Amino acid sequence: MEPNFAALREEFPVLRHKTYLNSGSYCALANNVKAAFETYMDDRLAVGANWDVWVTKNEAVRTLMAQVLYASPDEIAVTASASAGLNALASALNFSGPRNKVVVSDFEFPTNAQIWHAQRPRGARVVHVHRDADGYIPAEMFADAIDEQTQLVAITHVCFRNGAKLDIPGIVRLARAKGAKVLLDCYQSVGSCDIDVKALDVDFAVGGMLKYLLGTAGIGFLYVRGALIESLVPTHSGWWAQEKIQAMDISANKPARSARRFEAGTPAVVNCYAAEAGLQTLLRVGTPAIETRIRALTRLCMQGLQEIDWPIVTPDRDDRRGATVCVASRDSAGLFDELAKRDIVTSFRDDNLRASHHFYNDADDVAAFIAAMKGLRDRFRPR
Ligand SMILES: Cc1ncc(COP(=O)(O)O)c(C=O)c1O
Repeated sequence: MEPNFAALREEFPVLRHKTYLNSGSYCALANNVKAAFETYMDDRLAVGANWDVWVTKNEAVRTLMAQVLYASPDEIAVTASASAGLNALASALNFSGPRNKVVVSDFEFPTNAQIWHAQRPRGARVVHVHRDADGYIPAEMFADAIDEQTQLVAITHVCFRNGAKLDIPGIVRLARAKGAKVLLDCYQSVGSCDIDVKALDVDFAVGGMLKYLLGTAGIGFLYVRGALIESLVPTHSGWWAQEKIQAMDISANKPARSARRFEAGTPAVVNCYAAEAGLQTLLRVGTPAIETRIRALTRLCMQGLQEIDWPIVTPDRDDRRGATVCVASRDSAGLFDELAKRDIVTSFRDDNLRASHHFYNDADDVAAFIAAMKGLRDRFRPR
C-alpha cells in the first residue's frame, strides 16, 4: 500500500508556507527531528552528562543506517561528515605499490576528488573520466581508465551539479574485471532511492544525514564491506575507533574489528539524536516507495519544463536521473532569488538551477515551480 504522503507532508511545517525544492542541499525539518534536538537539550538540563544514553544514540544511528543500505551495523562507521569517512578510508589505503591509481569522474562533488588528489604525496595517481558530448558519462567511458593499476574507482551516484545518475552496476562490472575496488559517494542519492550496497556490489559507500536522510549537518557515514574491514587499518584514527574504547590504553593502536575503526573522536551527540529521528521517518516511509514517488515527481517537473520550453540539463531517462532536476539559466543566482521571493526554495550550482524533490513534495509544488518559471522565462532562460 502506498504511504499516505498527504499526511506525511503535515510532519514538515515549512511546507505550509514554502514550496520546498531544496532537499539536495538541506532537507525540510520534520517535527520529530526538531523534537529530538529538544530532547537532547532537556536531557542536558535534567541530567547533565547522560553518556549511557548518548552512546546508545550513536549505535542507533549505526543500526538504522545499516538498514537503509541493507548492510550490517558492523559495516557502518558513523562519521562527522562524508569527508571524514573518505579521509579515514584513504588513510588505510596503500598507494606505494603498482595499484596506485584512483579513478574519479567529472561528476564528483569536490571532496571526492580533492581527498584523492591529497593522497598524491603518498603515491596515488588520480585519473578523471570526462563527460561525453551530451553531458553524460556512460559506463563504457570508464573502460579505458580502469586497468590493472587501478586500486579504487571513487564515483558519485548522482551528480550535484546536473542531477545525472551514473550506471553503477555497469561501472562496478568494469572495476571487478580489473580487480579494482569501488567507492560510491551516495550523498546525493541515499534516502531518495533504494540503495542496496550488497546488490550494487560496491566496497565502500559514503554520505551524510542532512539531505534526503532527513537529519542534520555534522553527521555522516562510511560503509565498508565486511570482508575488507580487518585488512584496512586507518592512520586517521582516535579513541572512538579502538576495539575497547574504555580501555584508554595509550600504549598501542588497537582498532575495532568493525567499521567503527574508521571513526575518530567523541560522537556529535546532538546530531545523533536528529539523525536517528530522520532515519526512523525514512524507514517508516520506505526507500522503494520514496524512489517511486520521486521518479513520478521529477518526471512531472521535466514535462512541465518541456511545456514551457525551458532547456533541461538533467538526463531524461528514468535510470539516469536522481531527485534533482536542473535547468540552465543565463543568471542562475538571479533566478534563485526571484523564486525565493515567490516562496519557492531551490538552489543553484554554476549556471544551473536545481529543483530537488523528496517524498514530502507533491504535484502542487511542481505546478507552483513551473508556473513561477514560466513567469520568469524571458529574463532567465538561456538565450
Ligand atoms: C555528492 C556529495 N558528496 C559529498 C558531499 C560533502 O559531504 P561533507 O560535507 O559531509 O563532507 C556533498 C555535500 O553536498 C555531496 O553532495
